[in-house]
Amino acid sequence: MKDEFNDLKEMYEYAWRLITRGTVDKKSPARHPTLGTNGVFGMPELRTVVLRGANEEAATLEVHTDVESKKVEELRLNPNVGVHIWFPINKLQVRIKAVAEIKMGSAVKGQWGKVPNGSRVSYGTLPTPGTVIQTSFAYEKPPNVERFCILKMNIEEMDLTHLGTRHTRALFEKKNKWCGAWLAP
Ligand SMILES: Cc1cc2nc3c(=O)[nH]c(=O)nc-3n(C[C@H](O)[C@H](O)[C@H](O)COP(=O)(O)O)c2cc1C
Repeated sequence: MKDEFNDLKEMYEYAWRLITRGTVDKKSPARHPTLGTNGVFGMPELRTVVLRGANEEAATLEVHTDVESKKVEELRLNPNVGVHIWFPINKLQVRIKAVAEIKMGSAVKGQWGKVPNGSRVSYGTLPTPGTVIQTSFAYEKPPNVERFCILKMNIEEMDLTHLGTRHTRALFEKKNKWCGAWLAP
C-alpha cells in the first residue's frame, strides 16, 4: 500500500496495476467499476459493470454488454463515457473520461467463444432490458450471440486522487502523452 505519491509516473503506473488487476481478480475493486453515460434526455446514467479488459499501452478498457441495453442506445447518440473506481485499501480514486466504440457481430464472435455458458445468458434477455413486465420473473434469458457486444473505451483522461497522509491529485491526458500534471486536491 502506498502512503504518499510525489512522482507522477509512479502514480500513473500504480493506478494501471490496480486497474488491470480487476480483469483477473474477482475481489479487486476494479472488477466492478461504475460506468457513466449521457442519458438520451441529458440526465446522467450510472451502472456497475464487470471489467473484462484493460490495456495500459493502448489506454483502453473493455466491458461486455447486451446490444439491446439502454446504455448502447445512449452510446450510439453520445460515445463519451466516465469510469469510476475507488480502491479503499489503496486510498486511490480513479476517474476516467473515454470515448466508447461498440464492437458486435463478426468482430466479437471470437470473444463469444470464451464467454462461459453461465454468463452468455446475460446477452439476450426477453423482453429487452428495461422493458416494463407484469410480474418480477416475467422474462427469459436465452443466450444470443447476436446480442453480445464489447464496449471498447478509448481513454482520453485519467484523474487520480490519493488520500495519503497528505492528499495528492494528478491529471493524466492522452493529448499530453500521459505525462501528467499535479492538481490541487
Ligand atoms: C455486480 C454487477 C455487475 C454487472 N456487470 C455488468 C456487465 O458487465 N455488463 C452489463 O451490461 N451489465 C452489468 N450489470 C448490470 C448493469 O449494472 C445494469 O443494471 C444493466 O446493464 C442495465 O443497464 P442500462 O439500462 O443502463 O443499459 C452488472 C450489475 C452488477 C450489480
